[in-house]
Amino acid sequence: MLKMNYWTDKWDLHVDVCPCDVHFNDWVKARKLKNKLIYHFGTGTHHVIGIKQATNKSGNAVFAITASKEEYDSYVELSTNKAKVTKSYLAYFGDIYLSNPKLLPEFDVVTMFHLCEFFFPNTASKAYGGLDDAKLLDLFTAKTKPGGYILFYTRSIAYPRAFPIIEKWAKKGHVKRVGEFKTLLVYRKTK
Ligand SMILES: C[S@@+](CC[C@H](N)C(=O)[O-])C[C@H]1O[C@@H](n2cnc3c(N)ncnc32)[C@H](O)[C@@H]1O
Repeated sequence: MLKMNYWTDKWDLHVDVCPCDVHFNDWVKARKLKNKLIYHFGTGTHHVIGIKQATNKSGNAVFAITASKEEYDSYVELSTNKAKVTKSYLAYFGDIYLSNPKLLPEFDVVTMFHLCEFFFPNTASKAYGGLDDAKLLDLFTAKTKPGGYILFYTRSIAYPRAFPIIEKWAKKGHVKRVGEFKTLLVYRKTK
């Protein structure tokens, strides 16, 4: 069996370089979203989305993936020191391209900020058993409740590759473009 395409790096919070997670918290606040279930692609070591949503009295809950061992270690550290955060914030270690719909509930909000950033040549091969980016987006769209939101990060390094996939996906008629919020592009699932 092949080894997982885990991320050999880690990401601390650098709002000047990559503000998507902070902008996401701003968007949730601006829309006054309460009691929502959020899926987040890419925790960072900072866990700024999970922590904020767990502590801002919104009632929102966050389920988030990291493919970095250091980032996952930082979640273990966070959970150990701030137990109550784990009631509303669950991070897990995995390769998002190996997502299995059986293991995922339906979400009110999904972030696809790093679409196309971490696709490896073997990801969608039979031996690895993963998805390509278009199929990944389809899977998480299927796991978004009608009326729920799917967000992209327009300053992602891979956005030029993600954009044609997003455009093609939008033409299928399951989503409606809401508009841009700071660096984020927001869609809403219609049916
Ligand atoms: C550049 S960091 C950004 C972290 C955070 N969203 C931020 O903007 O500060 C990319 C994130 O994607 C995650 N990641 C990389 N490859 C992944 C994969 N194959 N599956 C799931 N997450 C992955 C990393 O663990 C990391 O959290």
